[in-house]
Amino acid sequence: MSDSDSSRSDSTVVYFAGRFKSREEACVSIDDRGFLFGDGIYEVIRVVEGRLFRRNAHLARVDKGLQDLGIRLADRERIRIQDILDDLIRENRLESGQATLYLQITRGTSHPRKHFHPPPDTPPTILISATPFKPNYDLQKNGANAITVPDLRWARCDLKTVNLLPNTMAAQQAKERGAFGAIMVRNGVITEGSNNNVFVVMDGTLYTHPDSPHILSGITREVVFEIADEAGIPVEQEPVPEKVLPDVDEIIMTGTTTDIQPITRLNDRVIANGHPGTIVKVLQTGLKQKMGIR
Ligand code: PDD
Repeated sequence: MSDSDSSRSDSTVVYFAGRFKSREEACVSIDDRGFLFGDGIYEVIRVVEGRLFRRNAHLARVDKGLQDLGIRLADRERIRIQDILDDLIRENRLESGQATLYLQITRGTSHPRKHFHPPPDTPPTILISATPFKPNYDLQKNGANAITVPDLRWARCDLKTVNLLPNTMAAQQAKERGAFGAIMVRNGVITEGSNNNVFVVMDGTLYTHPDSPHILSGITREVVFEIADEAGIPVEQEPVPEKVLPDVDEIIMTGTTTDIQPITRLNDRVIANGHPGTIVKVLQTGLKQKMGIR
């Protein structure tokens, strides 16, 4: 970490705009397009015993997001990001236990404020931080409640952009109703959760919304496909109508910070017998194995 600042007033070290600094010292410019327009992408990566779970899949999603938004990152920056992710785990002493890494890349700073993009050589703003993480294994064992909300988002939900207002509004609604999460519904079909993907089980088969611009193609969702395949559980990528939800056998949320979460109550109504089902348990065991958690 050759370019760390010497005066750190906080023990958390982050990487921001080309430097390692304390979290308190890292301040965004008022001209940053991420701040002004939500013009950027982000990624959340799970770290177990210092290892990044599905590192390549997360970095590939970053590349895809940058490409689709036309944000140019120099090759050396791209390579440097990989080193910084590891540096931050070390610097923040997160080599043991669990953590998350947050990576955000915006189109950079530009003044005066214009909606159209600044010149292509404008350096993107890169933020990377690492935070200790404790999964809620009790909730994963016992099940949780969720609510359904209208999906108010745009038509490129496949991009992991920092434009998360409909997601944060949905999460807040869930919180106010004492629920773990919100399941979003577009045109009568469930798309995904506000920060996770959703599966349901009907007659032994897992169903989830197909890859489309209306969902984020989650990396945990991909892991679920792998585990299901290995366990011989059939998976169908088909739109699931909201109206079938009360009668499904299992509802499951999946994501980097959600893991594999059974939803045993929906809109205050019990799902099936009100306990996590058999398939979710297979998926949970499989995820723990793949993450190297005992
Ligand atoms: N959210 N769908 C949405 C809308 C998400 O925001 C996320 C992840 C997922 C699951 O994707 P993955 O399995 O790759 O984490 C699905 C992150 C964790 C967040 O916003 O904190």
